[in-house]
Amino acid sequence: MKAPGTAVGLAVLTASTVSAADDLDWTSLALLTKAADAQVQPVIDNKASYYAGSPRGIARAVRQLVTPFVWPNSTFHHDEALLPHITEMLDVLTERQHCDGTYTVGNRHSPPDTGFLVEDFGIMVRLLEGDGHEASPPIADTIRAILVKAGPGLAKGGVHTPNHRWKICGALARISRITENESLVSRIDEWLAEGIDIDADGIYSERSPIYYAAVTNPSLLTVAYELNRTELIAHVRRNLELSIEHAEPNGEIENVHSRRQDQNQPAGDNMSGFYPQFREMAIMDGNGRFAAMARLLEERVGHTLGDYLASVIERPELAAKLPEPEEPFKDFSKHYSDAGLVRWRRGKLTASAFGGSDWFRAGQQTDFYNRFASGLSTNPTMFRAWNGGLVVEGVRLVPNFFTMGHFRSNGIAFGADGAAKLGSVMEVPYYLPMPADLRNENGTYALGRSVADGRFYAMLDFENRPASMRRLKTDVTISPTEAGYDIAFEVTGERDVELTIELTFRGNGTFKGMEEVVGEDGTKTHHLIEGSGEYTLGEDTVTFGPGNGEGMILTDAGEQYSWHRGSFGLAGHKVYITGTSPMSYTLNLGFS
Ligand SMILES: *[C@@H]1O[C@H](CO)[C@@H](O)[C@H](O)[C@H]1NC(C)=O
Ligand SMILES: *[C@@H]1O[C@H](CO)[C@@H](O)[C@H](O)[C@H]1NC(C)=O
Ligand SMILES: *[C@@H]1O[C@H](CO)[C@@H](O)[C@H](O)[C@H]1NC(C)=O
Ligand SMILES: *[C@@H]1O[C@H](CO)[C@@H](O)[C@H](O)[C@H]1NC(C)=O
Ligand SMILES: *[C@@H]1O[C@H](CO)[C@@H](O)[C@H](O)[C@H]1NC(C)=O
Ligand SMILES: *[C@@H]1O[C@H](CO)[C@@H](O)[C@H](O)[C@H]1NC(C)=O
Repeated sequence: MKAPGTAVGLAVLTASTVSAADDLDWTSLALLTKAADAQVQPVIDNKASYYAGSPRGIARAVRQLVTPFVWPNSTFHHDEALLPHITEMLDVLTERQHCDGTYTVGNRHSPPDTGFLVEDFGIMVRLLEGDGHEASPPIADTIRAILVKAGPGLAKGGVHTPNHRWKICGALARISRITENESLVSRIDEWLAEGIDIDADGIYSERSPIYYAAVTNPSLLTVAYELNRTELIAHVRRNLELSIEHAEPNGEIENVHSRRQDQNQPAGDNMSGFYPQFREMAIMDGNGRFAAMARLLEERVGHTLGDYLASVIERPELAAKLPEPEEPFKDFSKHYSDAGLVRWRRGKLTASAFGGSDWFRAGQQTDFYNRFASGLSTNPTMFRAWNGGLVVEGVRLVPNFFTMGHFRSNGIAFGADGAAKLGSVMEVPYYLPMPADLRNENGTYALGRSVADGRFYAMLDFENRPASMRRLKTDVTISPTEAGYDIAFEVTGERDVELTIELTFRGNGTFKGMEEVVGEDGTKTHHLIEGSGEYTLGEDTVTFGPGNGEGMILTDAGEQYSWHRGSFGLAGHKVYITGTSPMSYTLNLGFS
């Protein structure tokens, strides 16, 4: 066979590792080829809807035609029927590029979003320039012109989020290598000099596994490869080690601590974005656990990996045989202190305790306190568990305390006893009369935000007004037991506050030991009043209890949500356990 594309590798991982076709991983290549071939017809069929959408979608769609066209093992290899579609789509992309070199992808004239297109354009240029078909060089020239024009826009432009910086660096690195424009590198250096936003545990500052996997890791590897910045590789390696600790064998990854939109998205097989990095680093490091993760993702989501074929044609060393896989999922317990997360894994049982909400993080600043916003971590789930195929999606607590919403822990401690300790004090003020020297003869006071609880605004000059406080103190201790976990709640301070512990279960298993409660809207839930309940899904079971008597079931996410008609509900089957403050109650969770 014809050796795949042109190798341009520097020191990071060189083409010398795959001098012969025998050195290639044909298991992966066959899978990637099949997945890539499956993308061709849908692109052609849906061309009109791509044109109606963003240029980012069009660029990816062209790449999905170009890749099989240049690949000898594709059923579309040098299929000239693809050519008119490719040139037509590239004409649209040429036309949509702004004078400043950027594209509008939702965000107007967006340098980081243009970075996504540059990735596709860069790969396509190399694929086409390494291809023997006579139609390929002129198509490559069209794309080169787009890249040349994009350079100055990306080298001048700005960002909104932390990962955008690395996306721009990756894009500039590609353009600078392909167009041999050294002057673009100074902007990369300016961004990189800020330092990479990764903590000691390997978690990037947005704490968003699904999004940083898709953006930061591959961007850093691109800069490392294109510009031989080998020092960047260590960040990716740390993040991949971390990602195994945060992953499940079902392809899911912990995102309870995320600051981005994945904090409240349904969990699922969301790790396909990690496949390229697990593969690259497995080969680079000879790391068997990374190899096992790459294989796991091939098995679980192989049909979604078609886009990666282009990368292994561009860099055949990425298609080298993987090292011998080693079991990636080992027993451990670990405190991720910056993210406020504790994870335990024991055989088929994994659990997370979370106390790293930004809700309290800047508690001293009224601007942050009790604030739900894009870019902040606000998930109130304090505990999750995966027991084989059975998932306890979340344990949460809602106190009926001035529409403050869920309990969120103000930090997390992890003791030598192996227990995680969570806690918070909710403070709600009643405002007292304005001191005489601050009265306003016209009755006009500054419009401001209620200081200690941040729930509402009024023209009462809260900042300068004395207040008396109502307080509710909650302490939670999560301890591993032989059969599972004990979650001990101590709620003190304000008396007679109704409390609801909400347990959410994933899947359609069967419940035992409780009465079903049918809500006004027909939703079916359970209230555990006495004894213990049980949930079974397939071969896995969890028991929970004891019940804590009759009581009021609260589900209110808090005034900031209800004012905007929002909610922070978890999808799944609910069981409620109720109580009243002061409450000293231990929830026993047993898994088998
Ligand atoms: C790839 O293509 C070559 C040449 O056409 C062929 O010999 C080989 O069997 C193909 N391999 C796979 C896995 O399709
Ligand atoms: C190289 O990049 C610089 C900075 O963006 C730009 O001004 C210049 O025109 C580019 N040179 C070429 C040959 O594209
Ligand atoms: C790449 O960087 C490494 C050090 O990180 C150095 O040893 C190597 O010579 C560099 N390779 C090239 C091609 O510049
Ligand atoms: C994660 O997977 C779930 C279930 O398949 C899906 O609904 C969700 O959109 C995915 N999230 C992301 C960010 O891919
Ligand atoms: C009260 O209103 C009057 C008339 O508008 C204005 O002249 C005066 O400055 C106001 N006093 C204060 C303390 O704002
Ligand atoms: C549970 O059953 C409902 C109704 O039959 C179905 O819509 C839903 O997809 C099922 N959920 C799961 C996780 O299997």
